[in-house]
Amino acid sequence: MIRRKGIILAGGSGTRLYPITIGLSKQLLPIYNKPMIYYPLSVLMLAGIREIAIITTPADQEQFRRTLGDGAQWGLHLTYIVQASPDGLAQAYVLSEVFLSGASSAMVLGDNLFFGHGLPELMADADDQDGGGTVFGYHVADPQRYGVVAFGPEGKVSAILEKPAVPPSSYAVTGLYFLDGTAPERAKAVAPSERGEFEITDLLESYLAEDLLRVKIMGRGYAWLDTGTHASLLDAGNFVRTLEDRQGLQTGSPDEVAWRQGWITGDQLIERARLFGKNAYGSYLTSLVSEVPYSVMKSES
Ligand code: TTP
Repeated sequence: MIRRKGIILAGGSGTRLYPITIGLSKQLLPIYNKPMIYYPLSVLMLAGIREIAIITTPADQEQFRRTLGDGAQWGLHLTYIVQASPDGLAQAYVLSEVFLSGASSAMVLGDNLFFGHGLPELMADADDQDGGGTVFGYHVADPQRYGVVAFGPEGKVSAILEKPAVPPSSYAVTGLYFLDGTAPERAKAVAPSERGEFEITDLLESYLAEDLLRVKIMGRGYAWLDTGTHASLLDAGNFVRTLEDRQGLQTGSPDEVAWRQGWITGDQLIERARLFGKNAYGSYLTSLVSEVPYSVMKSES
């Protein structure tokens, strides 16, 4: 079987963040000390995925290329794909059909942040499933802003509703989707919704109709943040700062994940750290190499 490939959906218009995003892609804005896209990129890397497509608007692609390059610095292979207009999340699969060439995929939204103990295991479990799809349900205070899971009598998923006025539950579907190789075919069959978008919920519905969709609950021990409004952007930055200051560990660092995965050597990590001069990110990366390797700590705990 071909290995699962990754997609980061980093287009969109970012109108809720105007005037900031009139001239800049939302996914390149800072979340405290890193560009936003570092966080979803690190999530795919934690899932063991090394072949990743970055979908952007035509105007922004150049800046993403400058920010991320070809991925070789992290042992990755990055491909860039343009979305001509922000016609909806399901369109990502149509645009990625050639890139995927039949492979299953993990797609993450470029403005979503995930943090929590056990995330790699949760994703490994989704990756292990043969066929169909896995998405994650997360309890939120304002489900009407999201795709919401409706549960049937035995706790089985009965539907996923896009931004329902009356939410059937408090579980929103997060922006992380593990789908099998049939996703592009299915996405092509999705018709535009009333608001004129190719909705991801309609794509998920096609899996659900064949009883091929699993909804895993991402429990309250996880943080799932999106960064689409001025307040949530600042909240996410403060969250990362609080966590990193307290732990002395960084979150959302592709450099660190690449090294821990064994995709780059310690020497390569130090080489990368030099790029960042004497700032805290650079000295953090340098300090990692002298620490007890994570794999050793893990096998001893
Ligand atoms: P949204 O936050 O729903 O949309 P947006 O980013 O265009 O922002 P706004 O609502 O403020 O205008 O998008 C969620 C993520 O998906 C975000 O990272 C952008 C991305 N996206 C695309 O790449 N293409 C699309 O067609 C859409 C709708 C979103």
